[in-house]
Amino acid sequence: MKGYRTVYDPGQVLGLTDYWYIAAEARRLGRRPLGVTVLGRPLALFRRADGQPAAVLDRCAHRNAPLSHGRVDRGCLECPYHGWRYDGDGRCVEVPSFPADCTPPSRARVPALPAVESDGYIWVYPGDGPPPAAPFRFPHFGERGWTSFSMVTRFPAGAFACAENFLDCPHTVFVHQGWFRSRNAGEVRARIRRGADWVEAEFLGERDAESVVSRLLFPSSRPMVHTDRFLLPATTRVDYRFSPDRQFIITSQCTPVTAGETEVYTRITFRFGRIGPLVRLVFAPLSRRVIRQDVDILRLQTENLARFGRPHPTRVATDLLGPQIWRLWRRHRLGLPPDESTEEWEARLRF
Ligand code: FES
Ligand SMILES: [Fe+2]
Repeated sequence: MKGYRTVYDPGQVLGLTDYWYIAAEARRLGRRPLGVTVLGRPLALFRRADGQPAAVLDRCAHRNAPLSHGRVDRGCLECPYHGWRYDGDGRCVEVPSFPADCTPPSRARVPALPAVESDGYIWVYPGDGPPPAAPFRFPHFGERGWTSFSMVTRFPAGAFACAENFLDCPHTVFVHQGWFRSRNAGEVRARIRRGADWVEAEFLGERDAESVVSRLLFPSSRPMVHTDRFLLPATTRVDYRFSPDRQFIITSQCTPVTAGETEVYTRITFRFGRIGPLVRLVFAPLSRRVIRQDVDILRLQTENLARFGRPHPTRVATDLLGPQIWRLWRRHRLGLPPDESTEEWEARLRF
């Protein structure tokens, strides 16, 4: 059949290894090991004796049993099969069946990844070279006057589809009709800027829409400043600013699990005068509802991509950030030096 091309591969993010990625919420990593998959790599996370996180490949060097099914003992990870014990750097420090005076051979080791704990998450670095000094910091997390809550959502979609969705306004009036935004079809201008590893769209003239969210949180329709941002490798940030003391920031870090599955770590951080903690009671379940709607539409999109052999999308001018994200990834994947020039332009759209 004419008109089908198969050049669109949403799984290419698996090659973006030289960044820190969230592997788990820190509160989930206690005394037991935790099995996770990051960029297609099955990992066992555990805590060293000093409480610092460690990440090793989830495969015992002996006979390949999954280490994440073992236990943590004195800061080492013990395999569930014959009890080989590994330290946080992946070295086998004990083979229980050995005579007391024998030490494990040096080849008895598993690959380890750099791991750190930051902003309530365990981050791992799947790259080969030295990792960047610190992972991305979540804006205003833990700051006085700001309230936040987190969500972890498994999306049945590639990281590109997720990032594009989180920064896409036109879908909100259909997928989240009445909940998050209702169609008012007023024309909005967007100013788009891009730099070496980021791109953002600032919306001008956006009106507060009739929706459950706006009725609950912003009854006195105020002018708002709305910005959508993307940062390599797969972090999105959406800002709504109504006044200095009414501000919402939705930050999502997408961790590719496989080419078609993404673990999305979302933190919603906001300032709402003195009643921030109260607002959270309303806003948290509402946000979960909205994110489920995105999961549902992305599942359908992923299934259809597979059914049709990944046809290329038809890009239009109102797809503001998706093509820019793709461009950033492409440069990075091809090993081209970052484009240090900043550019700025405007677009018009309705939603
Ligand atoms: S398979 Fe792990 S100790 Fe034997
Ligand atoms: Fe959405």
